[in-house]
Amino acid sequence: MQTPLIRIRDLSKRFHQKEILKKLNLDIYPGETLVILGKSGTGKSVLLKHIIGLSKADSGSIEIGDKSLANLSSSDLYQITIEMGMLFQGAALFDSMTVEENTGFFLRHHGDLKQKKPLSEEEITLRVKDALKRVGLIEALTKMPSELSGGMKKRAALARLIVYNPSIILYDEPTTGLDPITSMQINELIVKTQQELKATSVVVTHDILSALYVGDRLALMEDGVIIHIDRKDLFMNICHPTIEFLKTTVPKDAYMRKNIT
Ligand SMILES: Nc1ncnc2c1ncn2[C@@H]1O[C@H](COP(=O)(O)OP(=O)(O)O)[C@@H](O)[C@H]1O
Ligand SMILES: [Mg+2]
Repeated sequence: MQTPLIRIRDLSKRFHQKEILKKLNLDIYPGETLVILGKSGTGKSVLLKHIIGLSKADSGSIEIGDKSLANLSSSDLYQITIEMGMLFQGAALFDSMTVEENTGFFLRHHGDLKQKKPLSEEEITLRVKDALKRVGLIEALTKMPSELSGGMKKRAALARLIVYNPSIILYDEPTTGLDPITSMQINELIVKTQQELKATSVVVTHDILSALYVGDRLALMEDGVIIHIDRKDLFMNICHPTIEFLKTTVPKDAYMRKNIT
């Protein structure tokens, strides 16, 4: 059995008096795409924010590689979290910057992470163009976020992540609010990004078609914990009302095939 890259143990978090994460356990393996499904308000976004170090747990632990997030100095935490990228639900682009400036922002501020040195403007331009080509947005280089459609915003946000080659990518509801065709384009990009970057990916969604398209393993989060997790073909055969319901919403053969074509 492989060693997990991300190991979450007994993770608990409450907001005011409400327990959101209740001793949640989860292992995420290197190079896999894990999809977390669950109803709205179950704490999926909260979980992602803990993984990327934006929220601090009340108790429990998150280990990434051989490092525990709780025990890191702030500079180590910074180092580990900048090797991760999160595609936020609302894309979270900087409104006053062009697509090109948004994509280059991280490189301009942090330089090359591995070599820990600033990058020349030429190098930044090359990498930004490469990232924008990968997501099919090279023509939108000079556009402002307000000029982009919902799908283009998601693609610009993805370009901003892949430009610095993160080893872990977290996607929060990447297809929510998009029409079916645009959703499928985003699904294809998630798979392509995964293949090209060989990153470990965690995708939170309530879009079962997207889950089946991009995921290697599927997990069901309910009541603050992961109640089921399995390879996607096996997951769909688990006897649970939510999974039974999800099954009724997709064509029968969708979860029998490796990918939907
Ligand atoms: N910063 C916060 N302060 C207070 N409550 C929060 C905060 N973040 C999330 N919550 C609450 O935690 C619950 C889970 O939220 P969230 O993780 O966003 O759910 P979802 O599964 O839909 O992503 C919700 O009830 C939400 O209101
Ligand atoms: Mg959410």
